[in-house]
Amino acid sequence: MLFATFCGFLAVSNAWAQSSTVDAYISTESPLAKAGLLANIGPSGSKSSGALSGIVIASPSNVNPDYLYTWTRDSALVFQTIIDQFTLGLDTTLRGEIDNYVGAQAIIQQISNPSGTITTGGLGEPKFNIDETAFTGAWGRPQRDGPALRSNALITWANFLLSENNSTYVTNTLWPIIQNDLNYVAENWNQSTFDLWEEVDSSSFFTTAVQHRSLRQGVQLANAIGQTSVVSSWTTQAENLLCFLQSFWNTAGYITANTGGGRSGKDANTVLASIHTFDAAAGCDVLTFQPCSDAALSNLLTYVDAFRSVYSINSGIAENAAVATGRYPEDSYQGGNPWYLATFAVAEQLYDSLIVWNAQGSLNVTSLSLPFFQLFDSSVAVGTYASSTSTFTTITAGVQDYADGFVEIVAQYTPSYGELSEQYSKTDGSQLSAVDLTWSYASALTAFDARAGITPASWGASNLTSTCGTSTGSGGDTVAVTFNVDATTVFGENIYICGSVDALQNWDPDTALLLSSADYPIWSITINLPASTDIQYKYIRKDGSSITWESDPNMEITTPASGSESYTENDTWR
Ligand code: NOJ
Ligand code: NOJ
Repeated sequence: MLFATFCGFLAVSNAWAQSSTVDAYISTESPLAKAGLLANIGPSGSKSSGALSGIVIASPSNVNPDYLYTWTRDSALVFQTIIDQFTLGLDTTLRGEIDNYVGAQAIIQQISNPSGTITTGGLGEPKFNIDETAFTGAWGRPQRDGPALRSNALITWANFLLSENNSTYVTNTLWPIIQNDLNYVAENWNQSTFDLWEEVDSSSFFTTAVQHRSLRQGVQLANAIGQTSVVSSWTTQAENLLCFLQSFWNTAGYITANTGGGRSGKDANTVLASIHTFDAAAGCDVLTFQPCSDAALSNLLTYVDAFRSVYSINSGIAENAAVATGRYPEDSYQGGNPWYLATFAVAEQLYDSLIVWNAQGSLNVTSLSLPFFQLFDSSVAVGTYASSTSTFTTITAGVQDYADGFVEIVAQYTPSYGELSEQYSKTDGSQLSAVDLTWSYASALTAFDARAGITPASWGASNLTSTCGTSTGSGGDTVAVTFNVDATTVFGENIYICGSVDALQNWDPDTALLLSSADYPIWSITINLPASTDIQYKYIRKDGSSITWESDPNMEITTPASGSESYTENDTWR
C-alpha cells in the first residue's frame, strides 16, 4: 500500500487540513508531478526529446492518441502554474523555463498556419508541431482561448517583473507578444470558436471567461507601462465580454458550457473557468463567477452530480461525498472516462472558496447555493454566517472534507510512481488515454497550492459592474431581453446595439454592445433591461472606425414586468 510507506514523515500540513490520506498523497505526489511536468518541456525535458526550447508537449504519447504536439492552451496553463510558483516564491528554480517559454511563444505567434497569419487569425490556431512548424492536418480550429490564456500567464510574469523594476524587458519583449494576443481577443471574441475540448463550434463559457480576464489584466498592464492607446477599445470589449458571460447562466441552476453542442451543458469547462479566473480580492462576486459565488457553487454541485451514475467506480458513494468526474457526462472520447484534471479542478474550486471564506471571516448562503450548503449541514438556512458561528465551522469543515474527497479519489487511482495520464478508467480506475499528460500534472500542483491556502495574484475582478447586471435572478427590477438580428456582414464587420437606457449605453455608438455571431447570420445578445419600460434602440454595423446606423425610425420595445420569463426580440437588419 503506497500511502502507508510514506506516512511516517508527513507531519507538516496547513491549519485546515483534515485528511491524513491527502496530506500523504500531496507530499509524495507534489515532487513527482513537478518532475513529470518539467520532463515534458523542451529543450531538456527527459520525455520531450525533439521539443525546442520552451515548447511544452501535451504528452509523450505519440500514438492513440498522438499528443506529441504543443497546444497553446495546455502550454499556457502549464506556464501559468510555473509562473505562479516562481512569482509567489514557491519554487525559485524556474526562471530559465519561463524565459524559454517567452522565447518560444514569440516564435509560435508568427508562424502562418491553417487558421491564418498573425494578422489574419493565425493566433487562434490550437496546436503546432514541437519543432515550431505549423500543424496542417484537419482539426477543430480556431480555438480562441489560447491567446487569452497565454497573455494571462505572460501578464502575471510582466507584473512580477515590474515589481522588480524590470520595465524595459516588459515593454520591449513581453508587451509585443501580449498586445498581439489581446488585439486578437478584442477583435474576435464574439466570433464562434471550438471549445477547449476541441469539439463544439459555438460560443463557450471557458473561452469567454478567460478572454474577459485577459482584457482586464491587459488594460491594467497597458496603463502601468504607458501603452494607453489600447485602453479604450480593450475596456469596451472587456465590458461586452462580461455582459456576454452572464448569458451562459441557465435558470436550472448551472452554467451551460457552450451555446452549441446539443448536450446537457454540464461540463468541467465551467469549473475550470472558475478556478482559472479566481481572484481572491473579488470575494464571492457572482458577476465573474468566483469560486465561492452562489452561482459557481450551484454549478459545481450540478456538474459533480452529473457523474454519479455514469461511471461505475462512483456507484455506492454517498450523495454528499466526492466522486470521479470527467469532461462532461455525455463524453465518449477514448472511452469517455474520468479525467484527473477535471477531478482536481473540483477540489481546487472548493479550496479557493475556503481561502475566501476564511479571509472574509464569513460565508453567505443564498437560495441558489442552499442545496450545495445542505450537503454539509442539512438544517442550514439562507443567511450570512460569521466565522464565530458553529454553522461556519461545520460548513467549512464539511467543504474541506468534500474537497479532500476529490483528491482522495485521484490518490486512489494514481499508480505508485505518481504518473498522471489524461483519463482513469470509469470501471476500475486504471490509467487510460495519453500517458504523462502535462496538464494533469499542472492541475495537481495548482490544486495542492490552493489547499495550502496559496492565493494567486489578483487580476482585477473586484469592483466590476456590468450594465447587464447579473442573470442569476438576484438583480433589481430588470428582465433579461435577448435581441436577435438577422444581418449579413462582410469580413471585418460586426453588429452592435445601443439605445435609450443605461443598459444600452444611452445611444453612445462608441460603447455600443457587441452581439455574438455564433449563430450567424443571426447576431445575438442578452441584456438585462429595466422592466415594464418603453425602450428605443438601433443596431449598428462597425468595421474598424467606420460606423453605419440602421435606417430610421428607431426600433422600440416595451419590456415585460419584472419576474417575467425572459423575453426575445427577433429583428432583421434594416
Ligand atoms: C481530439 C481532441 O483532442 C479531443 O478533445 C476530442 O474529444 C477528440 N479529438 C474527438 O473530437
Ligand atoms: C484533448 C483535450 O480535449 C484538449 O483540451 C487538450 O488541449 C488536448 N487533448 C491536448 O492535451
